[in-house]
Amino acid sequence: MILSILLAASVLPLTFAGSLPKKSQGGPVVRLPYVTAVGSSANNVESFIGIPFAQPPVGQLRLKPPQPINTRLGTIQATGVPLACPQQGSLTIPDIPGVPIGPGNQTLPAGEDCLTLNVQRPCSANRHSRLPVIFWIYGGAFEQGATQQYDATQLINSSVVQGKEFIYVAANYRLGAFGFLPGSKVLVDGSSNLGLLDQRLALQWVADNIASFGGDPSQVTIWGQSAGSMSVMHQMALYKGDNRYKGRALFRGAIMDSGGITPADPVDCPRAEAVYDQVVKAAGCANAADSLACLRSINYTTFYNAATTLPGLGTNSAVALSYRPRPDGLVLTESTDVLVKKGQYAKVPFIIGDQEDEGTLISLIQTNITTTDQLIDYSHTFMFRDATRTQVANFINLYPDNPAAGSPFRTGDLNNLYPQYKRIAAISGDVAFSLQRRNLLQFASAVNPHTPTWSYLATYYYGTPILGTYHSSDIPVVYGLLGGELPIPTSTIQSFYLSFVKYLDPNVGVEGLPNWPQWTDGNKLMNFSATANTLIPDTFRLAASNYLAAQAPSFNL
Ligand SMILES: *[C@@H]1O[C@H](CO)[C@@H](O)[C@H](O)[C@H]1NC(C)=O
Ligand SMILES: *[C@@H]1O[C@H](CO)[C@@H](O)[C@H](O)[C@H]1NC(C)=O
Ligand SMILES: *[C@@H]1O[C@H](CO)[C@@H](O)[C@H](O)[C@H]1NC(C)=O
Ligand SMILES: *[C@@H]1O[C@H](CO)[C@@H](O)[C@H](O)[C@H]1NC(C)=O
Ligand SMILES: *[C@@H]1O[C@H](CO)[C@@H](O)[C@H](O)[C@H]1NC(C)=O
Repeated sequence: MILSILLAASVLPLTFAGSLPKKSQGGPVVRLPYVTAVGSSANNVESFIGIPFAQPPVGQLRLKPPQPINTRLGTIQATGVPLACPQQGSLTIPDIPGVPIGPGNQTLPAGEDCLTLNVQRPCSANRHSRLPVIFWIYGGAFEQGATQQYDATQLINSSVVQGKEFIYVAANYRLGAFGFLPGSKVLVDGSSNLGLLDQRLALQWVADNIASFGGDPSQVTIWGQSAGSMSVMHQMALYKGDNRYKGRALFRGAIMDSGGITPADPVDCPRAEAVYDQVVKAAGCANAADSLACLRSINYTTFYNAATTLPGLGTNSAVALSYRPRPDGLVLTESTDVLVKKGQYAKVPFIIGDQEDEGTLISLIQTNITTTDQLIDYSHTFMFRDATRTQVANFINLYPDNPAAGSPFRTGDLNNLYPQYKRIAAISGDVAFSLQRRNLLQFASAVNPHTPTWSYLATYYYGTPILGTYHSSDIPVVYGLLGGELPIPTSTIQSFYLSFVKYLDPNVGVEGLPNWPQWTDGNKLMNFSATANTLIPDTFRLAASNYLAAQAPSFNL
């Protein structure tokens, strides 16, 4: 049997559409200047689902920065399943006996007119409440994901029990070619990094409108997972760190679950240019006088089909994403690692952490890489194209060719699915996530030593065959969706996060948990295991993180 899974959040059975509160007559009503939203109420949580926050990015607005809504929409029933933005790529892997993932083959209702957001709040909230706000950014490799996959009911319920109530906002942003088409023509047109701009416009929507729901626009925490976590980093780094709108900061804190700095080549670099050319060719726009105008003129299906001729997640070159944020000199002036080193990012307190085995899931596909030479060639061809083969070899050789050193970590010779599996899993998890986390903390604490940061390592799925504590396994834990399973990590992480959201310090107002020291205080990680919370040193694979930092920008993606 073939198990088809989608990377990141949708790896898990996370279709909440069916469990979202049902449309109800006489639901809660919130009046905004441009729209009146009628929501629904269930389990002591009120939900307003699918509120448009931008003009539909269709027709001549396709591949253009999002535009605020400038008309009145009247009254809308904010109770349905909002369209996801067009999704690209899925990962087809062999079914592994005993591995508790899937079935993940979901076809989300999706379409180009997708720029909506969801608001959920405790039913006790009203427009006088001034509650802190969580602004959630979903993951999915900048190719997948949607607000319809996330329901904050349990997290909100927890917050009420703890006396740390908050308001939850999650916004759709454009993905794949719709949100991140690269290339020099796109750059000149001022239309790069559109997905990040969608997130930004949604944050501006929060600043303008959240008070009407009972939220305090001066107490916003941005939080994301995987590509959503990288998006949080990008929101901190956009416009060289100027996060103000109408003179006020759009957010005051950040939580990054699995994703930080992402050293990247510019939007008009050769590999990005090749992506643009491929889309143009596949769309039949190669002979057009203005290829970008041509891409805007073709119908949705033709554009979608052209966009998805590029390799998606399920392919051999999985880690080298065709579509991703890239420096454009304008919105994202430079690569996030460079901006952080220069102190050109929003200097807000943040939490950042990783799953212990970030790379296992994405390494299930390269089953034919069985020797060190093949691994070096593969890494050089698909990932580190700017580095010399020797640089790549030196990096790879920091990882012993010994299953006992690989990921899932701490499992001896077990779980080595194919000859280089555990080594590839260690390297890809480190390159995309774990070591970028440590380097971010190092760069940030060098330029802003007095801005608090905290870091964690999640190990609660230690012992899961093949995968360990795999990428995206945190979603059901932090959203509290596991019923009786993993109660300790869920309550620990929710307590720390909700305190951070309310007090900007995870240690304030938590009971029965160890003190979580700031990362600068001895470089300690909070180890969220299944049974205990202990501090461990942030020193694993230090030679590799130092090498990546020292060799920048050769290891840009
Ligand atoms: C809310 O939390 C309380 C206390 O933990 C629990 O009894 C109740 O079942 C929860 N309700 C929902 C909808 O999660
Ligand atoms: C996913 O599900 C759809 C609808 O059930 C089915 O047609 C398709 O073949 C499935 N894809 C894979 C890769 O299993
Ligand atoms: C989209 O355009 C293509 C090429 O012009 C055409 O074959 C197809 O029928 C169109 N599809 C729709 C839904 O209009
Ligand atoms: C592994 O398979 C991919 C995809 O089929 C192929 O492109 C690649 O050349 C193969 N690599 C090796 C080392 O055989
Ligand atoms: C995390 O904590 C668990 C439980 O105390 C422990 O067994 C494990 O070794 C720790 N993990 C790491 C990576 O140190």
